[in-house]
Amino acid sequence: MCGIVGYIGFQLATEIILEGLKRLEYRGYDSSGVAVIPQKGEMILRREVGKLNNLIQDLNKNPVHGSIGMGHTRWATHGRPTVYNAHPHSDESGKIVVIHNGIIENYLSLKEELKKKYEFKSDTDTEVIAHLIHDNYKGDLYKAVHDALQRVTGAYAIVVLHADHPECFVAAKTASPLIVGLGENENFVASDVPAILNYTRDIVYLEDEELAVVYNSHVDFFNLKGDKIEKTPVKISWNIATAEKGGYEHFMLKEIHEQPSAIAQALAGRISESEGKLYLDDLGIDADMLKSINRITIIACGTSYYAGLVGKYYIEKIAKIPVDVDLASEFRYRDPFIDNKSLLISLIQSGETADTLAAVKLAKELGAKTIGVLNVIGSAISRETIGNLYIHCGPEIGVASTKAFTSTIVCMYMIALYFAQLKETVDHEFIRNSINNLKILPTTIEKVFAMKDEIKNIAKKLANYNHCLFLGRNYNFPIALEGALKLKELSYIHAEGYAAGEMKHGPIALIDKDMPVVSIITESSTYEKVLSNIKEVKARDAIAIAIATEGDTLLKDHVDYVLYMPKVKEELSPIVNAVPLQLLAYYVSLRKGCDVDQPRNLAKSVTVE
Ligand code: M6R
Repeated sequence: MCGIVGYIGFQLATEIILEGLKRLEYRGYDSSGVAVIPQKGEMILRREVGKLNNLIQDLNKNPVHGSIGMGHTRWATHGRPTVYNAHPHSDESGKIVVIHNGIIENYLSLKEELKKKYEFKSDTDTEVIAHLIHDNYKGDLYKAVHDALQRVTGAYAIVVLHADHPECFVAAKTASPLIVGLGENENFVASDVPAILNYTRDIVYLEDEELAVVYNSHVDFFNLKGDKIEKTPVKISWNIATAEKGGYEHFMLKEIHEQPSAIAQALAGRISESEGKLYLDDLGIDADMLKSINRITIIACGTSYYAGLVGKYYIEKIAKIPVDVDLASEFRYRDPFIDNKSLLISLIQSGETADTLAAVKLAKELGAKTIGVLNVIGSAISRETIGNLYIHCGPEIGVASTKAFTSTIVCMYMIALYFAQLKETVDHEFIRNSINNLKILPTTIEKVFAMKDEIKNIAKKLANYNHCLFLGRNYNFPIALEGALKLKELSYIHAEGYAAGEMKHGPIALIDKDMPVVSIITESSTYEKVLSNIKEVKARDAIAIAIATEGDTLLKDHVDYVLYMPKVKEELSPIVNAVPLQLLAYYVSLRKGCDVDQPRNLAKSVTVE
């Protein structure tokens, strides 16, 4: 899970590479490096541990001139984050250099074999690629890379430079993402579009087992069999400003505030109030196909998994189809009960998460129909499914998922309504009312932003504790889980989310003055039950923080802090209630001086197991 940028053209390569890497830092940030060919026969490598700024400072002090080069930002998998493990890695001559994102699964056996001939300088799996290319090089760089890759199994997106070939570089991918950007007398490769969007909007998505030989005037594409192939570029319409912070202190804060517009975009063109109807044709599912399905499995990881849990409540209640929700990493290693009557819905913001991708492939093998709910257009998952519902929330850069979470829940609600429409489990009136409720969500969420100062005040208190418990019930149980995940990943405070009804089955033993408890107690059929939990919390001297519905003035007597949410239909309350919990985690993190956008040890897209 690393970021890759390659450049060839007429400009200073390092400037373009560093700008691109900056936009890819969300993919990993424990070390970084560049390689540049200043003139034929010469290769310059620079590598630094830590944030990209360390590399930038080094290059500012000692600039490297050249118009062909590549750069890498690393998230360690094999080998500690050190300079010698940072990419690029070179062969023994130092003329061939490689950057890589992914994991070479057979690297140990390859290393054993190559060690007989070459001295290894790193602990990485990547270095075997450099030596393999050297082994196969007989004057033609493309051929050497092509032949080396025949020996490799696993996931890779690589870029390869050779000091004796300043006229081109070679890129290839299998299972890890890589795109080629086409310019005028300059061309680019990168792990993701924002890295090169300032220079080109004409993008070619490399498929698995494809290679590109990139010159400044053109790009030749090949498959791993060695055939030359034609690839058609797509025009990207994103504005680069959408990938920038837009005036906020952090990407996360910006993304929290983008939720009203993100939700509006998710709804756009998919709901008709006047007809009381949804249009989700992109899913590729019609009434006949849905009739043939007797169960749905939702798979995802992390925050997307919690969105899936909310989706289960929606689909079972509205469309009356049984739903299981599985962590992708669990699903793929058991014998899941899946067959050709199953529909698998994968929730995957990045479209790249390795476990989710593998789970989808497994479900396909078992005969299931698979659809994706995702954000990144053209990402790996979209090529595995029969249909996709894009959440359309724009690039999410903050490692902590926020707008993708609420937009995914909105999409799950639309899917439930759409299936209900196809199966006729509800009437037009129900759908029309639900659409009306969805449409007011953006303005409802705007109101939560006005509570910033109250949330900051609670954050100030919470930042002093080492533990925190989150309770919720029914639709809001997954929001308790998500609230806890946000707090722990952003502020490193140990936090747990529990179904409120489970409190008496264990967690209550933890409750004392050192364990603040955040309870979601907005209007619902289980209100009284959660209130009893809060009373039990207070009886044990814990700080009680509540997320409640406006107008619930009685609650004040039972809690230390309360945040009043605007009224919404109970089933849509998780979308609104997630927002104050995101802000709470954000402000606690800020107060503790943590790295909000790039919490320690985490990366945005987890493209390895
Ligand atoms: O791209 P995905 O939706 O598959 O990502 C899943 C998780 O890695 C992600 O949600 C992660 O848990 C975030 N750090 C949560 O904020």
